Amino acid sequence: MKIVLLGYMGSGKSTVGKQLAKNTGMKLVDLDHEIERKENLKIPEIFAVKGEIYFRKKESEVLLEQLNEEENAIISLGGGTPCYGNNMKIALEASESVIYLKVSIPGLVQRLSKEKELRPLIKNIPDEELPEFIGKHLFERNIFYNQANLVIECDGKSPEQISEEIESRL
Ligand code: S3P
Repeated sequence: MKIVLLGYMGSGKSTVGKQLAKNTGMKLVDLDHEIERKENLKIPEIFAVKGEIYFRKKESEVLLEQLNEEENAIISLGGGTPCYGNNMKIALEASESVIYLKVSIPGLVQRLSKEKELRPLIKNIPDEELPEFIGKHLFERNIFYNQANLVIECDGKSPEQISEEIESRL
């Protein structure tokens, strides 16, 4: 069984993925970590040195590879992964369930204002402009995110609660 977790930056994909892996005994594959391992560079360095287009190509390549290689795994995507190339279609076809961890704009602003540094797409956005930036970005990305098989409303819920909700709805 393959489960794919997606959602905007800061939506808790990695944390929920860890919890879900612990509860189910499934392996967790974090796509960003896989890319970092293969490139031997951290994500901000890949963006700075090789550029976003290079990153997006690598991201699609590593997604395909992981979906082909893994048999029983939770695959946690980067925030932008579903929105480029055929990635969303491929994820839907190659997995049993694609799950969107949905967080409101105020929820994302609250989480991301503390964690901008490691995220090249938002690190230069002033805090006061974050709500508008995230709102517009989510509007574009929701076209892809909303194709998920399952949408979990995550505001005000702990990773344990979200993980249990996913397990009960699989
Ligand atoms: C990105 C999200 C990041 C990472 C890269 C680009 C995006 O992952 O893949 O910085 O386009 O939303 P997280 O969602 O884990 O922050």
